[in-house]
Amino acid sequence: MWDYVKIAALAVITLLAAIAASYARDLAYQVHAVIVMLVAGGLFLWNVRRADDLPAPVTGEYMDGVIRYGVIATTFWGVVGFLVGTFIAFQLAFPALNFEVLQGFTNFGRLRPLHTSAVIFAFGGNALIATSFYVLQRTTAARLWGGNLAWFVFWGYNLFIVLAATGYLLGATQSKEYAEPEWYVDIWLTIVWVAYLLVYMGTLMKRKEPHIYVANWFYLSFIITVALLHLINNLSLPVSIFGSKSVQLFSGVQDAMVQWWYGHNAVGFFLTAGFLGMMYYFVPKQAERPVYSYKLSIIHFWALIFLYIWAGPHHLHYTALPDWAGTLGMVFSIVLWMPSWGGMINGLMTLQGAWDKLRTDPILRMMVVSLAFYGMSTFEGPMMSIRAVNSLSHYTDWTIGHVHSGALGWNGMVTFGALYFLFPRLWNKAGIYSNKAINWHFWLATVGIVLYAASMWVTGIMEGLMWREVDANGFLVHTFADTVEAKFPMYVVRGLGGVLFLSGALIMAWNLWMTVVKGVPKDAPAMAPAE
Ligand code: HEM
Ligand code: HEM
Repeated sequence: MWDYVKIAALAVITLLAAIAASYARDLAYQVHAVIVMLVAGGLFLWNVRRADDLPAPVTGEYMDGVIRYGVIATTFWGVVGFLVGTFIAFQLAFPALNFEVLQGFTNFGRLRPLHTSAVIFAFGGNALIATSFYVLQRTTAARLWGGNLAWFVFWGYNLFIVLAATGYLLGATQSKEYAEPEWYVDIWLTIVWVAYLLVYMGTLMKRKEPHIYVANWFYLSFIITVALLHLINNLSLPVSIFGSKSVQLFSGVQDAMVQWWYGHNAVGFFLTAGFLGMMYYFVPKQAERPVYSYKLSIIHFWALIFLYIWAGPHHLHYTALPDWAGTLGMVFSIVLWMPSWGGMINGLMTLQGAWDKLRTDPILRMMVVSLAFYGMSTFEGPMMSIRAVNSLSHYTDWTIGHVHSGALGWNGMVTFGALYFLFPRLWNKAGIYSNKAINWHFWLATVGIVLYAASMWVTGIMEGLMWREVDANGFLVHTFADTVEAKFPMYVVRGLGGVLFLSGALIMAWNLWMTVVKGVPKDAPAMAPAE
């Protein structure tokens, strides 16, 4: 019965998408309607062909197939996102790379959101979904709830990414940072996200292990808060049901405040709480030690989620936002330093008694470096939120340096660690194909991050100071173009940092691939020595 409902629904969607494609008012909408039509039509045919097949028997306790796809998607989108990041880094140094002949399709303005969405939502999002499904099953001793719903989450989320990315290249955007996709893509993501929440909650409810391990608290807060942020920040009215353009419900300073409430909590819950969930499972596992303090993990969890939600106004210092709101954001940001360091300390101290492993285990080393960068960026952030400091840092590359020490150092490194942990386990191999290659990846990534962050700190503070400098008569000493010229060498260094980081990721992709195809099976009989 359910199969026939599914087939009928897919037929209706295919038809509606075909109608939408023919009435489309703009190119992005048309291309998206065609993509939806092809996907729904393909699924329709596939379902018709296997409608009378018996359902495949459930094998094994855990649902790992979807996680295997998830970790492959994470690796793929990571490489794409870093590649686009490196390219736009060079575009800033060499504007000719905007390629005028391509009529704007590859200019910085379109590729920049492609980069941010590819790394945050495609690389980070797939990593979070895949690891959360893995951690959830292992810590609850239960199979994912909802049958094939987890597959819907995976494919639905990746369809969202394809729609978002193609939309940017075709010029469709609602101009909200990190929330650029237009109204219909937002609606689709809402449906997928609700399914994700259902899978998560459903599995937790049928857990066989009475205790809910702390990693799940972090993952759950990430899923629930992102749903809330996404719904409110994307409230908008489409201009036409057949076009991509929409008008935001909020306007002026209210719109700015909602946007940065969203933006900051995207950092707080997507890039922090979710990744802390990852950290709380994979660091103790890799170090083979229990979490240093379970009490601390609970205290810093509640403090972190309570404080983060108020800190958004620090993005709007010296704007039309009332001063009191800015001060509130600043105070909450400074206090946020403590629970953030609670997480870092708990992660690092988990290695107590196992520090020697750092000499031999490059995966653990990645995780430790990740925690160090987490600590560094969560010290820098509160400092930048102070109004006087922000008056220097805002609009400069200092912000970009801060972003990437967190993003490359914290999110990147902990994800790489989790991928190296997961691949052999998911494909039942004894270990990663080449430990030496992990070591190379570790050093390339670390030096890449240092080049990136250091060049941005130097150029950011330099341009901030140059903008401020006045002569004895009160006139500005430098033009804007002077600062752009002065930044050139730093932009080249940042681009090189990107090349190193990307090379490390390519080595990882090769190593993971080799692990799957050539890795030694876990229970392979030991080779007997020749006699
Ligand atoms: C090879 C690695 C990377 C390179 C070379 C790179 C490069 C860049 C460049 C050139 C920009 C534009 C800066 C500007 O407008 O002045 C940017 C922005 C951004 N990137 Fe990356 N990126 C990399 C990896 C990542 C990763 C892994 C993440 C997140 C997980 C990330 C998140 C962001 C964000 C959030 C922004 C927007 C920052 C802002 O508006 O303040 N990047 N990146
Ligand atoms: C206690 C923790 C943190 C605080 C208080 C904080 C604070 C800040 C401040 C004050 C800014 C500059 C706002 C501006 O001048 O426009 C900023 C920007 C940013 N931070 Fe953080 N930060 C924290 C941690 C992190 C972490 C761990 C990450 C990444 C994983 C991160 C990612 C970002 C991003 C992406 C932006 C750029 C937003 C934009 O597009 O303008 N932050 N943060």
